[in-house]
Formats: sequence, C-alpha cells, structure tokens
Amino acid sequence: MNRFEGRAAVITGAAGGIGRATARRLAAEGARVVAADLDEEAGRAVAEEVGGTFVRTDVTDEEDVEALFAAARKAYGSVDVAFNNAGISPPEDDSILTTGIDAWRRVQEVNLTSVYLCCKYALPHMREQGRGSIVNTASFVATMGAATSQISYTASKGGVLALSRELGVQFAREGIRVNALSPGPVDTPLLRELFAKDPERAARRLVHVPLGRFAAAEEIAAAVAFLASDDASFITASNFLVDGGISGAYVTPL
Ligand SMILES: NC(=O)c1ccc[n+]([C@@H]2O[C@H](COP(=O)([O-])OP(=O)(O)OC[C@H]3O[C@@H](n4cnc5c(N)ncnc54)[C@H](O)[C@@H]3O)[C@@H](O)[C@H]2O)c1
Repeated sequence: MNRFEGRAAVITGAAGGIGRATARRLAAEGARVVAADLDEEAGRAVAEEVGGTFVRTDVTDEEDVEALFAAARKAYGSVDVAFNNAGISPPEDDSILTTGIDAWRRVQEVNLTSVYLCCKYALPHMREQGRGSIVNTASFVATMGAATSQISYTASKGGVLALSRELGVQFAREGIRVNALSPGPVDTPLLRELFAKDPERAARRLVHVPLGRFAAAEEIAAAVAFLASDDASFITASNFLVDGGISGAYVTPL
C-alpha cells in the first residue's frame, strides 16, 4: 500500500514508542515524515531511519510548534497529516488526593495545550490546501474510569477527545478530518519493566482486556495510518478506540 505517496506527515513524540512505530509505518506507505520531539538524539535517529526530517520541538512552546508546521510545508510543500502524539505520564500525577498543582499543570501543558497548539498551527496549512487529516492521541482513559488514577493525565486526554471532536465538526466541509485516537495500554519498554517488577499490577489491568494482552506499538501505528489515510474518508470527529476490547467489556474470557 502506498497511501501516503507524495504526502507529508508531521509526527510529534516521534522518538517515543508509538511515534516511532508510526513514523516507520507512514514512511513505509510513502509518506515524507517530519519527526518532532524534545529528544534530539532519538528523534534524529528516527528521521534518518525513515528518510525524513527532524525538527527539535517543545510541543508546549507556541513558537516551536508554529515553526514545526512551517518547516514541514517548506520542506515538502504541504502538511497532509498531523499526528499530534507527544505526551507524558509522570509518577507525580496520581490520585487527586496526592497530586500537586505543579504536576497537574505540567501534564495539562504537555498533553492538552500541546494538542491545541499543534491543531492551531496545522490547520491554516490544511485550510489553504483544502485537505488534511489530523489524528490526536487521546487514551482509553478518556472513556473509561480507573481506580488506579492519574488524574491530570485522564483529564488531559478527555480534553483531547472533546477538542478533536469539535474541530472535526467545525472543519468537516473544508476537506479536513480530525479524529482522536484512543489507545489501550501499549506494551512499551517502560511498562514492561514496571510490570516485570510488579506482576500483580500487570494482572490487575490485564484482567480487563478481552484480548488478554497489551497492544504492540505497531498495532497503534496501523490504526493511525488508517485514520490518516483516504481509507478513512468518512471518519471524522470520532473517538477511535484501539483498546483490545476494554471499553466494550463487562466479563472477560478466562
Ligand atoms: N503507552 C501507552 O500505554 C499509551 C496508552 C494510551 C495513550 N498513550 C499516549 O500515546 C502517546 C505516545 O505515548 P508513548 O507510549 O509512545 O510514550 P513515549 O514516552 O514512548 O513517547 C512520548 C514522546 O514524547 C516526547 N515528548 C515529551 N514531552 C515533549 C514535549 N514537551 N515536546 C516534544 N516532545 C515531547 C518524548 O520525548 C517521547 O519521545 C502519548 O500521548 C500517550 O499519552 C500511550
């Protein structure tokens, strides 16, 4: 499949698990990838691997974000896909009873304000072109409640979901689609390390997943590729859950 031949895709958080897998997937389907991340070394490596461009970007910084989309347009002539995916989930963000205002604000900035900025500066290019696809990374916790709370993270992803829906509706007749991608738990090195140390913690979560395992980053990337492509031409303003069935489950298989 060459669904992104001649198209440029900006990916934030491109040095991380989901971002890197998506950079590889979109490039494999012909996209010219602009990889954005705070992490220069890993970001550059991803861009090099996929034959794209790296732009060092702090997604909480308005000037950085404006410059990122302008750089993509300049390098490749268009901004066809924006995968606004950078995000954090620090340990200081926990139960509302213990989470301080600084941790709350930091997570809101990186996870939600960043998506506002990325959409704000991707949209003018897409409006000029009369087409584009924005995919914003939310999470299944925007849809499901967890007793193992990360309160600011959850609230930030709820914001990403509502913002994406609104923009999807507002720009629908300008050829621009905006969707929220809501992954379930992904098997990242960090998660694996955490759960290897504490198998009970993993088991408490896995019991809720009908498919009985966490997602591979490549499975999330495949969903991004679908949503970003013309195959999803009638999908906008959606909450696209890629969660192994979590949000549909009451009693899961043994
Ligand atoms: N991993 C999961 O289980 C899971 C589940 C649901 C949703 N998500 C979401 O998916 C997205 C990607 O997660 P991941 O698992 O690949 O995480 P990751 O930590 O592997 O990657 C995140 C990337 O974002 C970058 N980043 C952080 N702050 C930044 C900033 N201010 N500016 C620019 N880049 C910044 C980091 O350097 C890193 O490369 C996040 O939004 C996350 O909340 C992850």
